[in-house]
Amino acid sequence: MKTFAEDVNKGLSSKFKHLSSKYFYDDQGSQIFQQIMHMPDYYLTDSEHEILQEQSSQIVESLGFDSHFNIIELGPGDGQKTFHFLKYLADNHLPVTYIPVDISAAAINLLTDKLHQELPGLDIHPLVGDYFHVLDENFEFKEDPKLLMFLGSNIGNYRTSDAVRLLSLFGSKMNLGDKLLIGMDLQKNPSTILNAYNDPAGITRSFNLNLLSRMNRELHANFDLTAFDFYCHYNPETGEVKSYLVSLKAQSVLIGALGKSFDFKENELLSTELSKKYTYDQIEAMSEASGFEVLNNFTDRNHYFTDSLWTKVDEYLELPKFT
Ligand code: AVJ
Repeated sequence: MKTFAEDVNKGLSSKFKHLSSKYFYDDQGSQIFQQIMHMPDYYLTDSEHEILQEQSSQIVESLGFDSHFNIIELGPGDGQKTFHFLKYLADNHLPVTYIPVDISAAAINLLTDKLHQELPGLDIHPLVGDYFHVLDENFEFKEDPKLLMFLGSNIGNYRTSDAVRLLSLFGSKMNLGDKLLIGMDLQKNPSTILNAYNDPAGITRSFNLNLLSRMNRELHANFDLTAFDFYCHYNPETGEVKSYLVSLKAQSVLIGALGKSFDFKENELLSTELSKKYTYDQIEAMSEASGFEVLNNFTDRNHYFTDSLWTKVDEYLELPKFT
């Protein structure tokens, strides 16, 4: 796996400067993301929350599992999204093991403690590590039917070709008939989407600027945060929100850990994030391309968001390597 320093070196040396949005989520960035999820204009969290709160029984029914099954959640965060779903399972004494998978041991411990307290009847088997490593290594839950959950529109951070590779890789760890529940943000009034990212309070701006602070903290860089601005836009023709940091002047920034400087022109962009919004046709096409079939789309009252339930139908076909 590439390190932060290596990715920064590569991203800032490119013709079009870029950094992966996965680097948003250090401790400070995760805290800012919590604030984003509480913003009224950031409808994604509330929409998905409503779906899982009000349609748990329909989702479970659609799984069609009639014996013990495993629920593997990739990147559960603070468990806020899934809580009502898990409560439904526990309240109804369904024969299920919940397996949250996260790279952060601290996050997993916090979540597990909370669930033990609030849902003492739930069988939990937390796993710390990289998704694929964990899916590869843990033989004990391979055979039982399983539901993989990848919620929160995290898939939207990938270009469609990369998303299909990632989803195919998930599929390669699944048996025929296993299910995937994937949170996807839907195309809608473009202003509604833009407002979720271009918030006037500047929280999303701080979220992006934290990438620069993080380089200052971890890589001994000397970014001047007042010399960069945040810019984002939504293109309703492609369904893509793109976010950037903009250099407000010609400047040179030293990254101590790399022992080198990087030049920014005035108004040069540093690309930070893609947040893709989907049509139902695109969701269908992606499922097919990754070896799945859409069983059901669970959507909120506003039809803003879908938790799309897919079933695995094809054997895994090796695709070009996912990076
Ligand atoms: C957590 C990746 C779903 O793309 O909407 C929120 C992150 N970025 N505001 C998203 C995010 C700006 C978020 N995801």
